[in-house]
Formats: sequence, structure tokens, C-alpha cells
Amino acid sequence: MDSPAVIAHRGYAGVAPENTVAAATNAAANDETTMLEIDVQPAACGTPVVIHDERLEGTDTRDGRPLTDATGLIWETSLEEIRAARVLGTEETVPTLAALLEAIPETVGVNVELKNPGTADLRFGESLPAEDRADRRDVWTPFVERVIETCDAFGGELLFSSFCEGALAAVREIAPRYAAAALVWDDLEAGLEIARRYDCEAIHPPRNAIAGTPLTDTECAGFGAGEPEIDILEDAHAEGRTVNVWTAENWRQFEALAAAGVDGIVADYPGLGTYASDQ
Ligand code: G3P
Ligand code: MG
Repeated sequence: MDSPAVIAHRGYAGVAPENTVAAATNAAANDETTMLEIDVQPAACGTPVVIHDERLEGTDTRDGRPLTDATGLIWETSLEEIRAARVLGTEETVPTLAALLEAIPETVGVNVELKNPGTADLRFGESLPAEDRADRRDVWTPFVERVIETCDAFGGELLFSSFCEGALAAVREIAPRYAAAALVWDDLEAGLEIARRYDCEAIHPPRNAIAGTPLTDTECAGFGAGEPEIDILEDAHAEGRTVNVWTAENWRQFEALAAAGVDGIVADYPGLGTYASDQ
């Protein structure tokens, strides 16, 4: 069985502040990285910036403290103010998508997660009821246009993912030449249906959605503990879709997902070499 692709989560959030140029260049320099995953949202002017939480003071994955020394909703904050923010305890900044892509070689792929188009009602789409996540192409289209325009300058492999249907619809309409992935939070059947509807090459379920692994006994995303109702790996593979799972936070999780035969693992730490130390 081939080893799964290693997709560095938020750059490599385990080894540098998430979604920064430092995280991305660290990921790109690591031999085990296939792609890096980043989250994008618009500044007030619409310029795509790379940050996960909806606020500048959102949580840093490394220690649960605020990420930056500034405050404010991303899409209500000027690019100038976002640029002036510093990741706490470092000289790192919240990069624009353009700056981050310029900083990495084209030999590493990038999974751009379309996180939020700049509206409060779509914030953290994954935590909203399905009916509230649907479509909203009116807000997604202008943002996805800006993201695609920026990404067109990057020569490496690109994969656009989202929990939000409107984002995938916009990618398909604006740039069908790029690969797309349906992110799943809590409903595998619905995720697969969205992947079919938008002809997504990949589906990205949470780690405990993979049947037959010890991980189904743990909590992750919207799934409770226990075996999932469908075998997403088998079903997606039968349809020719790639299955990339998020996220492996330690070696046990990485190994279980690799043994199950997933195609890619979104990981906080550089692959097997680093994880081997906490076996
Ligand atoms: O793309 C997988 C993963 O990034 C989704 O979770 O919250 O880290 O964006 P989150
Ligand atoms: Mg993400």
C-alpha cells in the first residue's frame, strides 16, 4: 500500500505559529510534506489573508492563547491593520495569500481552505446547521474570484476545499480547472452528496469518520464516538474520489489512518519522522 500524502495542517501548526509564512516554509522544506493546508478569509478590502479564526485575537493552536496582539473581525479590519498585527511572542504576521504563496516553492502543493467569504452569518460554516451553510453564492463568488486570481500566479498543485457548499459551487463555476474537495463536519452522506454535486476530486472527513479504526471511539468534529454509518473510504474510492482525513495530532492517529488506506492525512506535525518519537 502506498504511504498517504502528508498535508501540513495550517502550514505545520505544530512546529510554527499556524498559517504564517514560517509555518508554510517549514512545511515546504520538510521532505515528508506533500501539500500544505491553509485557511483563507478576506480583509475588509477583499484581499485574501491566511488565518483560521474569524478574529485577529483568535486561538493559537500551539497553546490556546490569542494568536496575535491585535483584535477585530478579519473582514472588518483593514489590510494595513492586519499587516501590523504580530503573532504573539514572534515577529510573524498574518500573511496575505499572495505573500504566503510567493514564499514557498512550487514543488509543494497547496490545499486552500475557503474558510469564510466575509460574512458573520457564514462564520465557521462547519458549526452551522446544514440549511444555513447552503449555497450563498452571492457572498462566495466575489471572494473566490479574488482567491483564484491570486492562486493563478502560483505554479504548484492547488486543491480548494470548503465546509461550505457555496464555496465549492463558486470554485466549479469560476475555475473548473482546479481540483476541489468537500470538507465534512458531521454528515458523511451529505458530504458525499456535495462531492458528487460539485464533481469534487476529493472528500475530507474528520479522522474518527474512518470505519474500522480505533479512532472511531474518540470524539472529533461533529461525530460522536462509535462506528460511522457508512464506510466513507470505500464509498468515495468506488466513485474515484480521493479521501484526505483531518487531522492526525499524534503518531497513533497517523498510523491508524495510514493502515486504513486513506489517501492523505492532514497533520499538525511533520510526518512519520517526528511522530515516531511519541509511539
Ligand atoms: O482542512 C482540514 C482542517 O483544516 C479543517 O479544520 O478548523 O483546522 O480548518 P480547521
Ligand atoms: Mg483548515
